[in-house]
Amino acid sequence: MNVTEMKCLTEQVGDAFYLLESKQFRENFVELKEEFTKIYPNFNIAYSYKTNYTPKLCRIVNELGGFAEVVSDMEMEIALRIGVEPKNIIWNGPFKNAKKVEQLLVMGGTVNLDSAYEIELISEIARKYPNHTLNVGVRCNFDVNDGVVSRFGFDIESDDFKKALTVIAEHENLYLIGLQCHFATRALHTWRPRAEGMLSLIEELGILPEHIDLGGGLFGKMADSLKSQFDSEIPSYRQYAEAVAPVFAEKFKNCAEKPMLLIEPGSALVGDCMHFASRVVNIKNVRGKHIATLLGSIYNINPTLNKKNPPIEVVSMGNPQSEYVDLDFGGFTCIESDYLYRHYNGNLAKGDMVVFGNVGSYSVVLKPPFILPNFPIIDISEGQLEIIKRGESFDDLFHTFNF
Ligand SMILES: Cc1ncc(COP(=O)(O)O)c(C=O)c1O
Repeated sequence: MNVTEMKCLTEQVGDAFYLLESKQFRENFVELKEEFTKIYPNFNIAYSYKTNYTPKLCRIVNELGGFAEVVSDMEMEIALRIGVEPKNIIWNGPFKNAKKVEQLLVMGGTVNLDSAYEIELISEIARKYPNHTLNVGVRCNFDVNDGVVSRFGFDIESDDFKKALTVIAEHENLYLIGLQCHFATRALHTWRPRAEGMLSLIEELGILPEHIDLGGGLFGKMADSLKSQFDSEIPSYRQYAEAVAPVFAEKFKNCAEKPMLLIEPGSALVGDCMHFASRVVNIKNVRGKHIATLLGSIYNINPTLNKKNPPIEVVSMGNPQSEYVDLDFGGFTCIESDYLYRHYNGNLAKGDMVVFGNVGSYSVVLKPPFILPNFPIIDISEGQLEIIKRGESFDDLFHTFNF
């Protein structure tokens, strides 16, 4: 971004803000969907709202025909408010508000059971609404060679899993619409085992559900500088599609009714669709170490604290710059480890704007109300400047306290 564009933005929205790129998000959705549908046409994307539930993004998914993957009543409310048809809402998550589960089921949405405590809950709802068909799914947990014992879903070897399926079968109005699994590991080698695991499970159970959902856990697009900080290869959308879609195409090639293959990406769609811009408020030297303080924090861009350096761009705002080696960018909080970027080599001046890339996932949704309320989100990717979220105020954060 050039200095004129940046000046224009800072004058309008202040010295720190998120830049949403809804155009890129739209393109990512279309591209990811195409890669899978080329191989297995009965495919759809259920966007993981928790990753970045900015309503504009959720609305784009809905416009493009995608589903909403939600894990809380809060996210379910977002989906309903933006006009997602209940039949396109899938509720996962280890805790579910019983009243809201009931509401979604009665409206025609899908609830995927995660644990045994939900079996009785779902039976009660089934008894209460004998004349409604209620769509339920079951989350399945098995080994995909990722070295992790996931805590999500039912162990498919367990009695609880059998019980969930039996109870669903016992109620005439409970319809087993799908099976789901989700493994957080993004490594490509876990994707074929997900598909094979789910397909051998339906074979064993002798069922053909409408949906087979392989969950999220895909890497998105990123700059080479970020890719090089991961231990594993960063696959492309096509590589993920080629790992699982042919398994489905082959398995169902002679079936008139092919189940829908679903995935639930979050980061893969939205990671590269946000930047964060913040002003350099000071540059100091402490016992030989250069530290720049920003009007920004690691909690704005990477509250999961994964210690990776995001892609960085420094926009000179006119003050004479000096060249720095091994400078760290520190945040506005009082946490010693609050660094947004370490070991910067290059030019910098107080007053410059620093723009961090790839901050779209698990950023704005995880920012704590610590030290400063959050900054505005704007979108300039579709022509004009659109305020997506105004900056938070004192009252936004404190009106739930009794003073
Ligand atoms: C059930 C489920 N689906 C999808 C996702 C999205 O994951 P990712 O952003 O890695 O694609 C998550 C993340 O925790 C999840 O729990």
